[in-house]
Amino acid sequence: MARITAGVASSHVPLLGVASDFGKDQDDYFRPIFAGYEWTREWEKAEKPDVIILVYNDHASAFDMKVIPTFAIGCADRYGICDEGWGPRPVPEVEGHADLAWHIAQSLILDEFDMTIINEMDVDHGLTVPLSMMFGKPEKWPCKVVPLAVNVVTYPPPSGNRCWALGEAIKRAVESFPEDLNVQIWGTGGMSHQLQGPRAGLINKEWDNMFLDGLIGDTDKLRYIPHVEYLRETGSEGIEMVMWLIMRGALGKRTRALHRHYHVPCSNTAIGHLVLRPDNGEGYDMTGDIPDSVAAE
Ligand code: DHB
Ligand code: FE
Repeated sequence: MARITAGVASSHVPLLGVASDFGKDQDDYFRPIFAGYEWTREWEKAEKPDVIILVYNDHASAFDMKVIPTFAIGCADRYGICDEGWGPRPVPEVEGHADLAWHIAQSLILDEFDMTIINEMDVDHGLTVPLSMMFGKPEKWPCKVVPLAVNVVTYPPPSGNRCWALGEAIKRAVESFPEDLNVQIWGTGGMSHQLQGPRAGLINKEWDNMFLDGLIGDTDKLRYIPHVEYLRETGSEGIEMVMWLIMRGALGKRTRALHRHYHVPCSNTAIGHLVLRPDNGEGYDMTGDIPDSVAAE
């Protein structure tokens, strides 16, 4: 059967795509940001996931005010790289896994999550920047991707509780796919940031670290944070963090952290990154030492 072997959370700041594409990642400003992803790049080479369910939000690239799906799943064989104003990023196209995606779509819809199905779409920095952070600059991405797009751009976005429950349903969906597949789920966006208005530039390190702490272990208290708290404490774009709760919900009751990274500043955001193992006593053979990077932070 297919199984979800790990969860990865990461901010998806577009400036990091620029730094990667133009070879600026070792400049003074970017070095401490990219250093926090080196552990994960090595780990991913060993993990060799077959498919990533990549939870992200489109930033008015594929969707606009004409159509705003709350939850949408990509069921295509491939996804192009969209032009966000400076031409498409020079990164490989993204290969989909149509069989798994259609299976998940069917399972979720019968599980009463009314997904929008996408058969054609270009993907923006919300999806491609995390790929660059985790895999660097390969000729071809090393695995297939099932994009799962969430509306966090226009109110009302889904609640944290609904996102967590969707993650739980994704776990059920993946585990009922008969083929042996090593599947990871990634949650992207955040952490605290506000891009416009009088509070532009807002960062809340204490709150962000409380959120990182809450993803580890067996508490589910994060699912009950109301939208107004994200707005007040983490700025208008901090609501992107509800996407991390889809990832967390898909990992089961308990998790342990393999790697953790937090850095300010990164463009207008606090950058956060976490690698989690499901630790739910369901017989998965989960190995992986907790590196010093976790203990140190
Ligand atoms: C920035 C961060 C984002 O999450 C985003 O989608 C766009 C811009 C930023 O910090 O510049
Ligand atoms: Fe964003």
